[in-house]
Amino acid sequence: MAEFSLPKNSKVVQGKTIKAPKGAINIKAVQVYRWDPETPDNPRIDTFEINLDECGPMVLDALIKVKDEVDTTLTFRRSCREGICGSCAMNINGVNTLACTMPLDADSKPVKVYPLPHMQVVKDLVPDLSLAYKQYASIKPWLQADTPPERERLQSPEQRAKLDGLWECILCFCCTTSCPSYWWNEDRYLGPAVLLQDERWLADSRDTNTKERLENLEDTYKLYRCHTIMNCAKTCPKNLNPGQAISSIKRRMVSSS
Ligand code: SF4
Ligand code: SF4
Ligand code: FES
Repeated sequence: MAEFSLPKNSKVVQGKTIKAPKGAINIKAVQVYRWDPETPDNPRIDTFEINLDECGPMVLDALIKVKDEVDTTLTFRRSCREGICGSCAMNINGVNTLACTMPLDADSKPVKVYPLPHMQVVKDLVPDLSLAYKQYASIKPWLQADTPPERERLQSPEQRAKLDGLWECILCFCCTTSCPSYWWNEDRYLGPAVLLQDERWLADSRDTNTKERLENLEDTYKLYRCHTIMNCAKTCPKNLNPGQAISSIKRRMVSSS
């Protein structure tokens, strides 16, 4: 039987607890994954008690409050604070989602905040997305057309409507990091976010590079490792359906062969 052993310092241990200020009544505990590659320490879970009466309503507000007032070393990505940039994607209470649109006080239990799963961690809540961005670049995510434009390229309302459900993707990678096929084959399977983006260009009436785009996916792994498990659609914070986009690409592959 195979035996697996992990380095001793890989075990997640209990970290510090920072109590809410005296007099706070409306308190929420936020448990946050911490890991600093510059120390030999194990990853740990720190608990921060937040006074909800002095905090914004979302999980990101609590993280910003901790960073501003309690522990400036807490590291996470964020930018827009309104679900547009995709930077604050993390795993909250077991679900990949956006910290800026996830309410803090959904129930009375502590909120558990981890980085997106199955990615190398850069520090604390920051995953290393280098591979995912390299895969994104590999699909050439820009409009490619045979002829240079003499004016703007027009679309009918029907042609434009074909991009609905695709253009809204904010590349947060919540879907990709929830996909079991990506967990096992991340080096060869492109994953739901990148494939949804590929479909976004395949569906665009102005793009004439369809043949090359499909040829780029002629591989047993890049596209066909999707087994329609649909974790991607379940977790997408923008309510998109990457599994459906992948099925559409597979149909395009069949009709082009
Ligand atoms: S499809 Fe949804 S979950 Fe996936 S990257 Fe786009 S917005 Fe994020
Ligand atoms: S439908 Fe495909 S891409 Fe989505 S989670 Fe399942 S295997 Fe992954
Ligand atoms: S901060 Fe931009 S999506 Fe959350």
